[in-house]
Amino acid sequence: MGLFTQDVGIDLGTANTLICVKGEGIVIREPSVVAVDLKTTQVVAVGTAAKDMLGRTPGTIKAVRPLKDGVIANWEIASDMLKAFIGKAVKTNFFTKTRVIICVPAGVTDVERRAVDSAARAGGAKYVSIIEEPMAAAIGSKLPVSEAIGSMIVDIGGGTSDIAIISLGDIVTSKTVRVAGDAFDEAIISYVKKKFKLLIGERTAEDIKLSIGSAYPYEGEGAMEIKGRNVEDGLPKNCEITSEEVREALKEPLDTIIEAIKTVLERTPPELAGDIYEKGIVLTGGGALLRGFDKLVSFATNMPVVISERPLDSVVDGTLICLENNFRNLYQNRNKNNF
Ligand SMILES: Nc1ncnc2c1ncn2[C@@H]1O[C@H](COP(=O)(O)OP(=O)(O)OP(=O)(O)O)[C@@H](O)[C@H]1O
Ligand SMILES: [Mg+2]
Repeated sequence: MGLFTQDVGIDLGTANTLICVKGEGIVIREPSVVAVDLKTTQVVAVGTAAKDMLGRTPGTIKAVRPLKDGVIANWEIASDMLKAFIGKAVKTNFFTKTRVIICVPAGVTDVERRAVDSAARAGGAKYVSIIEEPMAAAIGSKLPVSEAIGSMIVDIGGGTSDIAIISLGDIVTSKTVRVAGDAFDEAIISYVKKKFKLLIGERTAEDIKLSIGSAYPYEGEGAMEIKGRNVEDGLPKNCEITSEEVREALKEPLDTIIEAIKTVLERTPPELAGDIYEKGIVLTGGGALLRGFDKLVSFATNMPVVISERPLDSVVDGTLICLENNFRNLYQNRNKNNF
């Protein structure tokens, strides 16, 4: 029983947590949700089992999302969740040394960064290295990050949209807006409340977005029946919402993201902008799967746009590539002191 090292990559996302293990690939892909018993403050369930309880729990059990807007909102619960996931991902014993590479959105504060670092340690990591999400997403999307070529990555997650220009292993310019998939759901909730006087929950709003949501008109648009509660008398009520109405609901958050993309493009040095024009803006994150989002970005920026091959996995894929390469040549000047 010698000293045994396990290298683990973690994408601790607002909506989903993914974990990969060097030599094995992705081993955990679960919603970032924890169910807690309010009486005992004990964790009752994590991940998929806990998400199924969202909005449906009895009084004493509460389903909590420990991350909000891309950063840890509840440290205790975030560490409990990480501990449960890491425990599930790697079989450790007293002699195992777990080294973790974990992501944070670009531009987070030191306090937010330290919270992630210490949550990973509390979750069982002996060594922790932090990488910025857009860099991981770009590596995972197989962009030439270490070359003298400009790449642009736009990661639309649940809590944040990370936009970054990368060249020579570093982030040249970036912007993070705390408007992404969750904001789309919230926008649908307020639209339905205002237009149909109907109260719906987060899960229904997400269902609407996934079924008929879009950023740009698409072929085969339709409508969907939704169930909720009447704002006025609180009684159950049904309504029908069309794709066009959902697009109207999503307009404001989509505009915010488009504006942020334009701001980053304006700040991009001309040579790198030329590279990006040639290769296209790369979209990733769950939000990149919203119908027509690529068309909207292309229309608004006049640039070619491509969707990453694996939008939901690109960040964790990036950490896996870093682990496999022992971090060499992937991102210089960063985190040298770790590991
Ligand atoms: N097909 C789809 N169409 C539209 N939205 C989708 C689709 N699939 C997933 N999403 C949305 O993507 C979001 C989750 O994406 P992702 O897993 O990349 O986020 P995250 O990494 O957990 O969040 P963050 O990076 O902001 O911390 C959710 O809001 C989800 O509703
Ligand atoms: Mg993410």
